[in-house]
Amino acid sequence: MKDFENSLETMLEKAFKTFSDGVENAKSYFHTPTVCTFEGQDISARTVVLRDFNEKDRILRFHTDQRSPKISQIKDNSSATIHAYDHEEKIQIRLKGSIEIHHKNSITENAWENTKEMSKECYSVKDSPSKRIENPDEFDIDRNQIDREIGYKNFAVNLFTFHYLEILYLKRSGHRRAVFEWEEDKIRQNWMIP
Ligand SMILES: Cc1cc2nc3c(=O)[nH]c(=O)nc-3n(C[C@H](O)[C@H](O)[C@H](O)COP(=O)(O)O)c2cc1C
Repeated sequence: MKDFENSLETMLEKAFKTFSDGVENAKSYFHTPTVCTFEGQDISARTVVLRDFNEKDRILRFHTDQRSPKISQIKDNSSATIHAYDHEEKIQIRLKGSIEIHHKNSITENAWENTKEMSKECYSVKDSPSKRIENPDEFDIDRNQIDREIGYKNFAVNLFTFHYLEILYLKRSGHRRAVFEWEEDKIRQNWMIP
């Protein structure tokens, strides 16, 4: 998209396109954004793989292990931020919203069916992620031993819906920063001082 920085409309289009590309393009910096959530009073940040982007409903999908402590932390406080920066395109995008967790329902069934066999293996690790252990070798996954379908019971789909999007484009002749906020179907948009 050439000259996208010239209008608010095309800044938003660029942001949406950047996340859409990030789903399929494993080389995109937006394929592995950072998700920040509350851990009680603390804030926790981690990389996840972006599995889907629904532009119309402003939803990003990523997957986690249902046993992970972040699941209960998100249930306690679903507010979250997603961030990524593409240092070649010089684009940073920040999203604010909330996460809805799905487990053993039609959404997870559909996502599981479309998950590559290799990715399914991670959900068969024999104990909960984040558990402190003595010997990591004991928890290596033996590809010949696992029943991938057992992993399904540990598989959670996280749907992050955002109401705030901010895009910053670094440009030598003058950076461009824009913010978009949705309230129901109304959108408020502004340029910001970078
Ligand atoms: C490239 C990359 C991709 C990752 N993808 C995921 C993912 O899709 N889901 C996930 O739960 N963790 C993923 N992780 C691991 C998390 O970053 C994190 O280490 C793990 O989920 C534990 O985080 P927690 O303590 O906040 O639960 C990924 C890590 C990297 C480096």
